[in-house]
Amino acid sequence: MTTPEDRRSTEGMVDYNRNSAMQQQLVNHYAERLGELVRRLGRVEPELRIVDYGCGPGQSAIEAVAPAIDTYRAQFSDAPISVCHADQPGNDWNGLFQLIPGPTGYTAPFIRTGAAVGSFYDRMAAENSVDLATCFMASHWLSHAVSLDAPGSVWFADLQGAARVEMAERARRDWTRFLQCRARELRSGGFLLVSCLGAVPEAGEINGIAASGRAVYRAIHAVAQDMAQDGLIDKTVLDRFVFGVWFMTAREAQAPLQSDPELAEAFEIEEIAVVPAPRNPLDIYADFIADPAEYARLYVGYVRGFGHSTLHNYLFEPGAMNGRSAESTAEEFYRRLDALYRAEPGKHAGETWYLAVILRKS
Ligand SMILES: C[S@@+](CC[C@H](N)C(=O)[O-])C[C@H]1O[C@@H](n2cnc3c(N)ncnc32)[C@H](O)[C@@H]1O
Repeated sequence: MTTPEDRRSTEGMVDYNRNSAMQQQLVNHYAERLGELVRRLGRVEPELRIVDYGCGPGQSAIEAVAPAIDTYRAQFSDAPISVCHADQPGNDWNGLFQLIPGPTGYTAPFIRTGAAVGSFYDRMAAENSVDLATCFMASHWLSHAVSLDAPGSVWFADLQGAARVEMAERARRDWTRFLQCRARELRSGGFLLVSCLGAVPEAGEINGIAASGRAVYRAIHAVAQDMAQDGLIDKTVLDRFVFGVWFMTAREAQAPLQSDPELAEAFEIEEIAVVPAPRNPLDIYADFIADPAEYARLYVGYVRGFGHSTLHNYLFEPGAMNGRSAESTAEEFYRRLDALYRAEPGKHAGETWYLAVILRKS
């Protein structure tokens, strides 16, 4: 039997391109900065080596590497480039490798494309081999799925007491491990740019932190709890279900770079910041609020996009009741979530803060 701990936290994300407007926005937000980092690298021998960690299956994997390729090409028209897309075995690799040579892809002379399959919490590239490492919207997923005694919440920011302490420790260990792996892989002078969902201090919030998507996760919890009350989800399963994510504050992101001697020596900090998303920071789908049906459809698609595999594996499958299948439990869950968003557009809006970590290998 596969236990939660055996499984990666994001295996089998679904419908990625359709539901990833926010991810694409994030990647595009850094285009200029990536160009600037590549200009600072200058000409690299024998080739410019780019690795995008947690690349995903969609167009954003292309857009993550395109600015670096374009900038380098503009400076050195015939200099070789190697692009490595790195993700877990369950990524839709066929989908990605069909996009690359297509009209929105990037293949061109002197570009070698490859993949690294594994976990970015382990080594994914050779020692001192990477010039530019990127990781977008991925490193907030912890190394393993989480099962904790956590009644009253399905996500990290609302956990209290021992559950909060345990999850904070897992997140700290994972982030440290992620940085240690990249420290080995980057060559001296190379850059690491990580961006994902973040959190900011906010007095009065649970744990004093406002984390991205708080109202969305609370809406997910409210619907799951209603279903548990109606005998459609096993409450004992719900009480241990927590999404395996942690959205760091700038302070949390910085901590191991100061406290871990190896990391302190390996990296110079260029930037660590958490900022509101430049577009629609208070509601990802603010542009559709006047159309409740569309607004609800987009939010349900968004939750399915990032959360379905986790919800299916750790809530609907083990928690389905009354002889219902995981699939019909899921359909009822999404139907109720849709109704919640339709009923009061804006009430469960997804707020977004981006964490940016830009480091240079010493
Ligand atoms: C939300 S998607 C982001 C994809 C893309 N970078 C983007 O910005 O659109 C998260 C990706 O991270 C990958 N991922 C999550 N945990 C990972 C891990 N431990 N190692 C490698 N990839 C991981 C998932 O498989 C998924 O493709």
